[in-house]
Amino acid sequence: MTATEPAELASRRAFRAPLLHFLSDPGPSLSPAAAEYFEDGLLLVENGHVERVGPAAELLGQLGEDWLLTEHPGKLIVPGFIDSHIHYPQTDMIASYGEQLLEWLNQYTFPTEGRFADPAHAADVANFFLEELLRNGTTTALVLGSVHPQSIDAFFAAASARNLRMLAGKVLMDRHAPDSLLDTPELAYHDSKALIERWHGQGRQLYAITPRFAPTSTEAQLEAAGRLAREYPDTYVHTHVAENQSEVAWVAELFPWSRSYLDVYDRHGLLRERAVYAHCLHLNERDRQRMAESGAVMAFCPTSNLFLGSGLFDLEAADEAGVRVGLATDVGAGTSFSLLQTLNEAYKVLQLNGQKLSPYRAFYLATLGSARALYLDHLLGNFEPGKEADFVVLDPAATPLMARRLAKVENLLERLFVLMTLGDDRAVAATYIMGREAHRRCAPSAVALSGRSADPA
Ligand code: GUN
Ligand code: ZN
Repeated sequence: MTATEPAELASRRAFRAPLLHFLSDPGPSLSPAAAEYFEDGLLLVENGHVERVGPAAELLGQLGEDWLLTEHPGKLIVPGFIDSHIHYPQTDMIASYGEQLLEWLNQYTFPTEGRFADPAHAADVANFFLEELLRNGTTTALVLGSVHPQSIDAFFAAASARNLRMLAGKVLMDRHAPDSLLDTPELAYHDSKALIERWHGQGRQLYAITPRFAPTSTEAQLEAAGRLAREYPDTYVHTHVAENQSEVAWVAELFPWSRSYLDVYDRHGLLRERAVYAHCLHLNERDRQRMAESGAVMAFCPTSNLFLGSGLFDLEAADEAGVRVGLATDVGAGTSFSLLQTLNEAYKVLQLNGQKLSPYRAFYLATLGSARALYLDHLLGNFEPGKEADFVVLDPAATPLMARRLAKVENLLERLFVLMTLGDDRAVAATYIMGREAHRRCAPSAVALSGRSADPA
């Protein structure tokens, strides 16, 4: 693990910095009414949970001697970022050239995921992946494994070792992939059930029943997934829908009785609360209505949708239908682990759709909005008292260009927009999990080819 603090640190900790969090959805409005912002704020954390936030001038005088104060002047504290759809086995194939979805799966994804039969490989990638999330300020994610149950054992073991709140599941697929990557309806049921019993609610871990997408599951397997979803109503359902036009046409051939792609999942009992659907690009009004009334969720994956040439997400239509929307990287089709960079691309996708993403809505989506999408807003997403104290210290002047641009900004809205447009992992100064530092960015020092520091200062 990266820089962490000594275990004997105080159980009562105070963090002083400019501080921003959201109490509700700001929608398209440019008014900061849904946000709470303290120019000189204090975040009080007791035993890993938020005790209070407020102005430092008011709260500092009330603290006893047992509080340990950490100051981050000039930075910005926000709740930890939440990634509502990402594939950990695809870490090693990010940036694979040239294809759209179906060819990309066959050419790159399936061979890469085949390696996760090996638990040592799975553990190695899981550890790297979680460190990469922390470097990017992501503290919670909804994660797909591979088809191998051992991929999820390795993932949850690595997440538990870091005390991270993670949601994950073994992929189900019993057709249209290489034989070595197929399970069966029965295996899918039994392996998922065993993983649920082993991991769901174990510490901070939560399980997601994860049929990959309709084309790689038979109806018998989708039925098995629906049965699990009924038997374990507080688990998650996690899959892809309506990402790519060729995929949509293929689903219509494979399930000729269906009203739409989404309807295939609906008929198998997979539309419900805590059911998260990645992409949702090629839906109709009835589909959106079904998602809203069932409590199902859309994961908006802008870097992936641009990279695979899949299409443009319609946030306005989701809002009008009243569907919950989370923000997601979808690595390895997504091209960045950074939710700041994901917001940068989200803004551009919506521009191409004639829609706007205000900086307030953007930071809401990366925090409380995605917590709501994952039905975790009673635990995470802002600094209300009692919430789990996962948070990020952002550096709005992380690069020379950001510092120069920052000198010209006049208000919070502009500062947030610069952060989301120019920021990435370099803008994450530190990441805290349950009030403890789990990552601290060390500025890269110039190193001469001889290995000596080039700059004695
Ligand atoms: N649809 C089915 N599997 C995948 C996947 O791994 N990535 C993306 N982007 N879409 C999918
Ligand atoms: Zn995906």
